[in-house]
Amino acid sequence: MSESHTIIIGGGIMGLSIAWRLAREGQRVTLLERGEVGQAASRVAAGMLAASAEVGYEEFELYALCRESLRRWPSFAKQIEADSGLQVDYRSNGTLIVAHDRDAAVALQRGYDFQKEQGYPVEWLTKAETLDVEPFLSPRIVASVRASEDHAVDNRMVLKGLRKAAESFGTDILEHCEVEHIDLSGTGVTVRAKDGRTAEGSTVVISAGPWSRQFSGIKAEYLPPVRPVKGQILELRMERPFELTHVIRGAKAYLVPRSDNRLIVGATSEEMGFDVRKTAGGVYSVLDGAWEMVPGIYDLELVSVDVGLRPGSRDHQPIVGFCEDRRVFIATGHYRHGVILSAVTATEAASSIISGNDSAVFEYFTPKRFQGEAS
Ligand code: GLY
Repeated sequence: MSESHTIIIGGGIMGLSIAWRLAREGQRVTLLERGEVGQAASRVAAGMLAASAEVGYEEFELYALCRESLRRWPSFAKQIEADSGLQVDYRSNGTLIVAHDRDAAVALQRGYDFQKEQGYPVEWLTKAETLDVEPFLSPRIVASVRASEDHAVDNRMVLKGLRKAAESFGTDILEHCEVEHIDLSGTGVTVRAKDGRTAEGSTVVISAGPWSRQFSGIKAEYLPPVRPVKGQILELRMERPFELTHVIRGAKAYLVPRSDNRLIVGATSEEMGFDVRKTAGGVYSVLDGAWEMVPGIYDLELVSVDVGLRPGSRDHQPIVGFCEDRRVFIATGHYRHGVILSAVTATEAASSIISGNDSAVFEYFTPKRFQGEAS
């Protein structure tokens, strides 16, 4: 039997974190990235660890997965910090889901009733209570729901930390290395990049976000059904007296403060294929939604606009696990939940690859549900 060696295709938060978890267990890992690691959707994110605030009605399995990942995040963050020497700005100030008018308040109440019924850790705050905890919210807001356990992290620092940590344990990272072919005809796996470079291993992990379908050589049904969902996100700079402590979410936008006074405001959700243009309409709609809740952003400096492509699967649920050919492991389709789900995905994926066993946590999210094998 050949030495175990995992080839990871894609250097976003999934690929990097799986590489790090495997490498710190002493596994040999090579990661191939079509561009530069940590520069696509995982970078263009706000870093919300929002189980209660972001998961929708009836998404019970996804909610349980997000809660499990949230539970693992504090130690995951501490380990990244310890292994890399970088700080990831884990903030536990909580999230406020804000109703900016009466219509939004009716929707908020409906969502809150459902969340309470399901036992989510949320509490209703009146207008006065909301303004008391976040004075820079608009005096026109009607009410809010506080999700104290929905935290946030600086995803860009997480990506830098993961790279440093993975490399410190010996992961080989090849950038500008666009894989086009996966060969399973021998006993192991050989992947070949467009420029002719090859890598050989015992397992291949496909974690290339919306680019996870672009490989020849393997069965078409193994290619995860993901598509790009464009998100435009902005960075503002907070200046005193302006201040926010919670993550603020509304129907049309969210605002995520960082400890270094950056304020991330997002995001559009657009079905535009692989288009990555920044548009006036995208920036306008995000700012308009944010301004309705927090009018004081009007005077803040607009530092940057970025565009990312989330990997949305057909059912908007992650796709994680072995294919029928257990040399192929899929980890993509995390859609709006990539940052929060990286902790549980990376730890479970690494133990599955090392042990050869399926993860019970990801049973519902198996790639086999798209391969005519789901029970
Ligand atoms: N999770 C936030 C977003 O996808 O915009």
